[in-house]
Amino acid sequence: MCGIVGYIGARAAAPIVLDGLRHLEYRGYDSAGLAVLDRAGELQVRREVGKLANLSRLVDEAPVEGQIAIGHTRWATHGPPTQLNAHPHVSGGGLLAVVQNGIVENYHALRERLIGEGYVFTSDTDTEVIAHLVHLYYQNGSQGDLVDATRRALSDLRGPSAVVVVCRDHPDKLVAARLGNAGGVAVGYGEGEMLIASDIPALAPHTRRIAYLDDQQMAVLTANGADYFTLDGQPLVKDASLLEWDADAVDRGEFRHFMQKEIFEQGRSLTDTLRGRLDFVGGQVRLDSLNLSAEQARTLEKVTIVACGTSYYAGLVGKFLIERLARLPVEVDYASEFRYRQPIVNPQQLVLAITQSGETVDTLAALDEARRCGARTAAIVNATGSQAARLCDGIIAMQAGPEIGVASTKAFTASVVDLCLFALYMAQARGAVDETARRELLDALVRLPGQVGELLAEARQGDHYARLAARFGEFSNFLYLGRGIHYPIALEGALKLKEISYIHAEGYPAGEMKHGPIALIDGQTPTLVIAPRDSIYEKMVSQVEQVRARGGAVLAVAHAEDAQMRQLADAILPIPVTHELLTPVLSVIPLQILAYEVALHRGADVDQPRNLAKSVTVE
Ligand code: F6R
Repeated sequence: MCGIVGYIGARAAAPIVLDGLRHLEYRGYDSAGLAVLDRAGELQVRREVGKLANLSRLVDEAPVEGQIAIGHTRWATHGPPTQLNAHPHVSGGGLLAVVQNGIVENYHALRERLIGEGYVFTSDTDTEVIAHLVHLYYQNGSQGDLVDATRRALSDLRGPSAVVVVCRDHPDKLVAARLGNAGGVAVGYGEGEMLIASDIPALAPHTRRIAYLDDQQMAVLTANGADYFTLDGQPLVKDASLLEWDADAVDRGEFRHFMQKEIFEQGRSLTDTLRGRLDFVGGQVRLDSLNLSAEQARTLEKVTIVACGTSYYAGLVGKFLIERLARLPVEVDYASEFRYRQPIVNPQQLVLAITQSGETVDTLAALDEARRCGARTAAIVNATGSQAARLCDGIIAMQAGPEIGVASTKAFTASVVDLCLFALYMAQARGAVDETARRELLDALVRLPGQVGELLAEARQGDHYARLAARFGEFSNFLYLGRGIHYPIALEGALKLKEISYIHAEGYPAGEMKHGPIALIDGQTPTLVIAPRDSIYEKMVSQVEQVRARGGAVLAVAHAEDAQMRQLADAILPIPVTHELLTPVLSVIPLQILAYEVALHRGADVDQPRNLAKSVTVE
């Protein structure tokens, strides 16, 4: 939440920072701002409420020229989205400016202290205390040493924070720091220029050489490189790693929205997810970076999955896969609840996080708790430079490529496929699945990306989904029903509809309907059922009958050639036939497309849904 960008080099800084913010807008879009050190040596600040386009317009009207700048796109925590609350925040009459991602938990006490020192606050934000604290120490104690003043100021803060500071007296440097789980801070190495940003998409157009700041670390950037320190002043050596993504991966290309692009990329992303992990000759799964030997896998007693939102729903599918294939008990916990319920965790357990961003604060906190209890930790993670990826004992990289649409899509399907690989890996180590069953699943996995591609190509050709959106898009409530491994897909489908089209949708285990929710069904509440022809198909058929008997419309995710379901349901969202355990990967895709089309039909902002932001780095 919130995106920060900094640039120092020989080029005009404002357009680079604005472009960086554009690539980070998924992290917050209620206001934005930048501070540029201009040619006269003055800090020029521009801030505007609303989307980044408003700030760009302001900068067009009142241009600022300079080669060092910081910028911010905000997701409000303290104070409403107003111009005065937008970052950067300045202190010392324009001496220095600060952008922050995070929360100053003790900001009331610090604000009182600073007011006592004579500082006048112009915003409601917690960030303004950082600007004034840096200024206070800059004047008293640090004697004009910006790095020391920043270090002292940060030592007074409680809570996670990522900050970048620019100062009029130091036109040759940017000072940055990370405290706690404050979302990423990535440093980009250019030719005669350096950049810093909350996430890779802002850096990818300029450089592929990246280093990351960890908790309690600082960076001092000049045009020619960066020096790193711990927060207590010890020098650090950091090597830049080479980014795997290219600049095209962070652009929308021919698509209208990032979400649309990411939905239609799923065939490719699943091919990448499987690449190098299946050994066809031996019929084995390889997960080298998981760092878990067969012996360790054999002695594990339990897997606890921790995740939030869409990643949590992927975890629920994972429970089915791991328990079915590896016969190993699995518990799935909301990461945001895990550490607050004194979980029973011990060294015989693996705590497996699922996180696209690798920076979700609750998931990182759950991993901390697991480590504290002595458990082994692993993460299924997309951003391999993220905190989760770096802190776990092992990882499975999703290989989905950058996910920028706020509503997660391709990371879900990549996570489910990774969970399947994990389940197979555990099963082979524990001798829990017979050869024929394993072969069947491996063969189905290999065919899966092609089937996803076919499903998507068909969906793209016609206007089936647009027509469904026109027919059902005006309803205010939806029920999504699934059973067994399809129940998490009902939850995920309902979440997609809620978050981008603002229609109330509830996911429910189909068998629980008659225990209460059936009371909701009438002509105004369509029900979406996930009903592929599998071992529980007949049960879903009777569910559909029950809905129809009460006058409710039914949309069914079903096999394309299922004549019975075609007759029963008002509309079919077709999927190809695959192995029962892989069906969730196919059945979720029509629900993503439906949610997307309904949002378009209702005129909603698909990539920037209200109140949401990607990478939830605040509790
Ligand atoms: C929903 C969505 C969120 C994320 C959740 C976890 O579309 O994107 O629910 O899934 O915030 O994010 P990660 O996976 O980055 O930890």
